[in-house]
Amino acid sequence: MKRIAVLTSGPDAPGMNAAIRAVVRSGIYHNADMYGIQGGFQGLLKNEVKHMDAASVGSIMQRGGTILQSSPCDLVFTEDGQQHVYDELHKHEIDSLIVIGGKEAMLAASILERKGMPCVGIPATIDRDIPCVGETVGFDTALNTIVDYIDKIRDTATSHEKSSIIEVMGKDTGNLALLSGLAGGAENILIPEKKEDLDRILQEVQQGPGRHNRFRIIILAEGLMNATDLHRQLKEATGMESRVTSLGHTQRGGTPTARDRILASRLGAHAVDLVMDGESGKVVSIKDDQPAAFGFDEVVEKRADWNESLYELPKRLSI
Ligand code: F6P
Repeated sequence: MKRIAVLTSGPDAPGMNAAIRAVVRSGIYHNADMYGIQGGFQGLLKNEVKHMDAASVGSIMQRGGTILQSSPCDLVFTEDGQQHVYDELHKHEIDSLIVIGGKEAMLAASILERKGMPCVGIPATIDRDIPCVGETVGFDTALNTIVDYIDKIRDTATSHEKSSIIEVMGKDTGNLALLSGLAGGAENILIPEKKEDLDRILQEVQQGPGRHNRFRIIILAEGLMNATDLHRQLKEATGMESRVTSLGHTQRGGTPTARDRILASRLGAHAVDLVMDGESGKVVSIKDDQPAAFGFDEVVEKRADWNESLYELPKRLSI
């Protein structure tokens, strides 16, 4: 009987529980022996490896966070740590490991794969910043959370004709800022991929008197700068006063959307199918509405793609 372990690593994302449920139940469906590692890779150092039956993942689909809990992936990035993790998995006679997480978690899984532990990755991060795989588990929920806040802020911004800067997550990629800005009708969107646009926005505000000179909603990805600094710069350059809201970790919590639950369920089942077929070294995804997979090397070595045409559209629609 195959012994498969699953863990969540790095920042949590809504829908991780749906992925854990899909992995555990698909494994049992295929007659595998299923194990959960509590607390990510660090959990292995504390012997937090538990047997999981079908009931252990009951009623978790709708819960945000991860029942397996998580921790940073750093451990796997040192020689000693890798060896330790490998030895612990070996000690528990784990044949394959399924890693649920973001870009760093996929890198950690690829390192362990090279070390000899067969691994399959399930992309789960609110950032949607994993190359090749497209949508990641958690992105849709975070996007909807942000849009909900933009709508609320717009109500009060309109009532008082006060501009607002809303800082959203995204260190290297502006996907959350871009799509929430489009869906929330933001007047300006600032993302790390387009640093130069800061000057354009400063000019735009200075030029006046435009329709948005009364007030504007600016969505800012944290990777470019923080909202307080942007407020200061805008005020110094143009005199514009803005309210500042940083949505912070509210973006990571909450009930996963149906879209995230469906994605997580499909990816979890596909990851187990690959393991049962003796495959490893891959990150699962959905391509053309069918389960697909990409090699770790393709995924971890590239930079995340973003859709430039989606960047132009909000500009056109917010004139
Ligand atoms: O990768 C997910 C993410 O939420 C990023 O968008 C954000 O920059 C980071 O995690 C925050 O991590 P922490 O919880 O360590 O502050």
